[in-house]
Amino acid sequence: MKVLVIGRGGREHAIVRQFSRSSAVERVYAAPGNDGMETEAELVAIDEMDFSALADFVEANEINFTFVGPEQPLAEGIVDFFHERNLLIFGPSKAAAQIEGSKAFAKELMKKYEIPTAAYETFTEAEPAIAFIRKHGAPIVIKADGLAAGKGVVVAMTEGEAIAAVTDMLEDAKFGSSGSKVVIEEFLAGEEFSFMSFVQDGGIYPMPISQDHKRAYDGDRGPNTGGMGAYSPVPQIPESVVSETFERIVQPAVEAMQKEGTPFNGILYAGIILTEDGPKVIEFNARFGDPETQVVLPRMASDFAEFIHAILGGGDYSLEWDERAILGVVVASEGYPGAVEKGHALPDLSELQGVEITHAGTKREKNGFVGNGGRVLLVSAAGTSIQDAQENVYKQLGRLQWNQFFFRSDIGWRAKQS
Ligand code: AMP
Ligand code: GLY
Repeated sequence: MKVLVIGRGGREHAIVRQFSRSSAVERVYAAPGNDGMETEAELVAIDEMDFSALADFVEANEINFTFVGPEQPLAEGIVDFFHERNLLIFGPSKAAAQIEGSKAFAKELMKKYEIPTAAYETFTEAEPAIAFIRKHGAPIVIKADGLAAGKGVVVAMTEGEAIAAVTDMLEDAKFGSSGSKVVIEEFLAGEEFSFMSFVQDGGIYPMPISQDHKRAYDGDRGPNTGGMGAYSPVPQIPESVVSETFERIVQPAVEAMQKEGTPFNGILYAGIILTEDGPKVIEFNARFGDPETQVVLPRMASDFAEFIHAILGGGDYSLEWDERAILGVVVASEGYPGAVEKGHALPDLSELQGVEITHAGTKREKNGFVGNGGRVLLVSAAGTSIQDAQENVYKQLGRLQWNQFFFRSDIGWRAKQS
């Protein structure tokens, strides 16, 4: 088989690597990919958003199916475009991708189908939004409605912070058009986890759960980021809660999308908080999580390409998973999630032993890799437990000098406490 992966980040590197391990796969292409993928994929210099060039490439190279990593091409209808050209592609249609692209759409769906989530209200004007904040008090959560790369969320611990956030979004347009509408929601307290499932033609194949670390610094402090590290499984979340999440959230959401006439195919990512009243949804995404993919996908014991190919062809499949724990730590450029400088040299990555390196924002130069973005790479290791995996990763990270870069030193701390 020949497979095309669309995207260029760490998530896509993990997808590429998993396909490259498939005995059924003859070649993996990545468009546009990144330099760190070179040993596992053939890089194709076509932008994620150039749908017709991508479809032409797929036809010319007789690629069996395409797998889409990031949300933007999905939200802009790449799946519909490929279907019109009769090409196999794994992902949601433009209409179904709204479950991520529009928080208001997702919230209305959950309200209608009684899927547990935080209470909320949508606003386009600052004045009523501020009145609402004054009435409900803090802590309270402010979200820009559109896609904002995970950064359009402010968990405000004080009323002042909440008011500043809505003013930024609605009056100062800090998040561009994605912030012209805001969702203000009830603050949920509890343990967070990510529940991702493969969905095709109504069939749901859940993955093992994982936990991301959204804040930039140790102790879950600092600004929200795209994710600074992750691990799977999540021992402090009981199996009964995972089943309850499947039955009360994932399955009803897939059925709701069918009933609404926007059936969902692709990866349904449910971000969950386990509250005192049970699991509740913080967000749905229409794609794999980053960095969750890097710690979940390597746990797949079945052949990834055979699986996707089978379900795209209308077949059924029995998916198997590995017991091992995996923990991954993101190395970011200094300054992230704010502005960063590119081009700083990374240490010699070939020194690292017994770990997997997943590239996100790196570039290969004559003397090795340099940083080329905010999140640069992820270093992960397997272990018999989260603690074991954590020790394996940090031991290796500690062997090198990471000048101009930083990483959190406590990924997995919540699991270790339990
Ligand atoms: P999101 O981009 O919606 O995943 O939000 C980013 C992060 O903000 C989440 O991972 C949570 O840690 C936090 N968050 C979002 N919504 C809520 C909520 N209603 N209550 C508490 N924390 C939240
Ligand atoms: N790690 C969270 C996300 O991918 O949205």
